[in-house]
Amino acid sequence: MKICVIGTGYVGLVSGTCFSEIGNNVACVDIDKKKIDKLNNGFVPIFEPGLEELIKRNVKHKRLNFSSKIEDNIKSSDIVFICVGTPTNKKSNQADLKQVFKVAKLIKNNLNKYKIIVNKSTVPVTTGDKIEKILNTKKNKNKFDVISNPEFLREGEAIRDFMYPDRVVIGSNSKKANSVMKNLYLPILKKRSRYFNCSRRAAELIKYASNAFLATKITFINEMANLCEKSNIDVKDISIGMGLDERIGDRFLRAGPAYGGSCFPKDTRALVTTAKSFNTDLSIVKTVINSNQNRNNLLNKRILKLLNNKINNKIITFLGVTFKAGTDDMRESPCLDMIPFLLKKGSTIKYYDPSGEKTNFFINKNVKFSPNIKDACNGADLIIIHTEWNEFKQINFRKLNKNKNLKVFDLRNLYSPSLMKKINIRYYGIGR
Ligand code: UDX
Repeated sequence: MKICVIGTGYVGLVSGTCFSEIGNNVACVDIDKKKIDKLNNGFVPIFEPGLEELIKRNVKHKRLNFSSKIEDNIKSSDIVFICVGTPTNKKSNQADLKQVFKVAKLIKNNLNKYKIIVNKSTVPVTTGDKIEKILNTKKNKNKFDVISNPEFLREGEAIRDFMYPDRVVIGSNSKKANSVMKNLYLPILKKRSRYFNCSRRAAELIKYASNAFLATKITFINEMANLCEKSNIDVKDISIGMGLDERIGDRFLRAGPAYGGSCFPKDTRALVTTAKSFNTDLSIVKTVINSNQNRNNLLNKRILKLLNNKINNKIITFLGVTFKAGTDDMRESPCLDMIPFLLKKGSTIKYYDPSGEKTNFFINKNVKFSPNIKDACNGADLIIIHTEWNEFKQINFRKLNKNKNLKVFDLRNLYSPSLMKKINIRYYGIGR
């Protein structure tokens, strides 16, 4: 199939590259000419393990190309994927669909033959109806179907999540579009992966409902962790004991800091707003949003307590600052709340992150980037393990830090409290 993917962000770039990997001829297009030029020069603008090599291979075999000629590529394609950003509109808390509708107007003027218009961006329920309305001119009659095909890609695991999906959701009532999409996904639909066809609006809601449920699961175990801390229980035992129940499942039950990233915070807020527009109150999702927002304050207070409220001039090291391991993404990372709080209390911050230095901290003179774990840990009064990168899992803190009062606050429960006690490290975890 000849595919045009509009938008070369996390979703567009990964989806377009993976579609080319399974044999399609793909043009990834973007209005940002600079971004396209960089891609054509082999520079990949996002940190996604394995993506660069996949891009190189498919560009070499001429299955994948990058262009800013959006209209030409729409014209020459059979399937057009809309993968543009839908950021949260700060005032309305709703997804901002400006870019989606701008692309829809472009498509409207370039329907030279039957095309399937696939919305992969995360959009509120009824957006497909609105896109259809924009395309629906007399000239375009029977020349298109608009369908919803939400993505379920985790940053850092996006290629694996694309190539081995639990399910492919296609929201469309068109038999023709359905059979084309089933064909398109055939190479990755293993016995385990299910091709699920439903209405377009159902597909739009499945995306939000899935993210909101995962956010709920995480918030639930985080609140269990709060109870565990007060009742001398290890929350890891609760996660295991609960997760063995197949109805619950053991994934997304790891207690930690507040959830972050570009999706859970945005999608939970947008879902509540969408429901409100249908006069429906989502009290559970609203509670999850509040609980997660409060989590940063709760952890900040814990840090103050760990340091006996004597934070002034203390050196606090963050191992990892992105919202989770495996990515360079700082969007809604918990440390963006914790670090300013600790700076205000007079501490000095050092950090090391495998994905490199962050512009977020360039303005703070009391935040120093360390080039490696050794340098970051040296001289710290408190080391906070903020993300779960593999290289953080076997650190010999005693060797790297001579401070006899050193404390380690492990937000990802990477270490065993008993082992840390054996080597006289004052260790604190989450829910333990
Ligand atoms: C998420 C969804 O998983 C994905 O399906 C969707 O397409 C996009 O949003 P992503 O935001 O990249 O993916 O990261 P994810 O791995 O889901 O983690 C989200 C947040 O939950 C992170 O802050 C992570 O640290 C946290 N998390 C995840 C936990 O705290 N505990 C867990 O057990 C899992």
